[in-house]
Amino acid sequence: MNALLKWLAVIWAVLLWSAAPLPAVAGPEKWTPLEKDGLHDPQGPAIHELQQPGEALSQMPPDSVGNQVRWVEALRKGVINPRTNILPETKIQVLDQDLIYGNTGDNWFVLFPHKAHTEWLDCANCHEGVFKSKFGATGFKMMDILAGKACGQCHGAVSFPLTECRRCHSIDPGTFKGKLGPQQAAGGKP
Ligand code: HEC
Ligand code: HEC
Ligand code: HEC
Repeated sequence: MNALLKWLAVIWAVLLWSAAPLPAVAGPEKWTPLEKDGLHDPQGPAIHELQQPGEALSQMPPDSVGNQVRWVEALRKGVINPRTNILPETKIQVLDQDLIYGNTGDNWFVLFPHKAHTEWLDCANCHEGVFKSKFGATGFKMMDILAGKACGQCHGAVSFPLTECRRCHSIDPGTFKGKLGPQQAAGGKP
């Protein structure tokens, strides 16, 4: 069996085994209406006041997985403009630095973009709990990610799912001429 098939088999095994519910995609509609989501009271008077997810999310750059929105693209294109802070004293820091991982077996290298993360997240969401602030110091493998650790704390839970190998494994080792680790030229793919 080739490596990709082997890993897909592992992922499906983990997904089937895990108790985490998969995103609900109902029939021909991509988004479950509020009255059918199991959270809202379908008889409640407010149900018609609330905006349906399909009405809001269908305006966004589409994705074929997860909640069907390419959120990074939505932010970059200005389709959404989320408030960065509620309290004025909250300090916002965006770090434009990419890290490239090379222990990927037969698969493409992994590019981790700090920018696409720190536009939504605080440094403290990852440092020093999930990741140490030194490339390679945390030490994690694909199996850890599939088990919900490291990148897997968010990917497959709130951010794009782990079935999208190429979104992380985005660097072709055949054409990549740079060095692994923290990149000098930040802001996207080299
Ligand atoms: C989504 C998670 C995440 C967020 C948020 C995040 N980082 Fe990181 N950071 C990482 C990962 C992953 C590594 C590499 C850890 C490893 O390889 O063991 C890293 C490494 C680093 C490094 C070391 C790079 C090197 O030269 O070795 C620094 C410095 C750093 N982060 C600073 C920050 C700062 C400052 C912020 C906030 C502006 C931040 N990070 C936000 C995930 C994150
Ligand atoms: C604390 C939560 C968190 C962790 C941990 C995390 N991510 Fe993310 N990541 C996000 C969010 C949120 C987004 C933006 C929403 C989305 O694309 O689903 C994102 C986006 C990305 C993108 C950009 C996708 C695009 O459309 O441009 C890549 C690539 C990525 N993550 C890779 C990684 C890798 C590799 C790791 C582990 C080293 C990791 N992430 C760890 C939350 C996280
Ligand atoms: C959220 C980001 C992300 C996604 C999605 C992802 N990977 Fe990975 N993968 C990583 C990171 C980070 C590493 C660790 C690289 C390192 O340590 O240098 C890794 C490592 C690997 C390795 C090396 C062996 C090992 O045990 O670590 C293989 C093989 C692999 N991934 C296959 C896959 C396949 C196949 C898929 C899709 C079904 C996939 N990955 C999806 C981030 C991701």
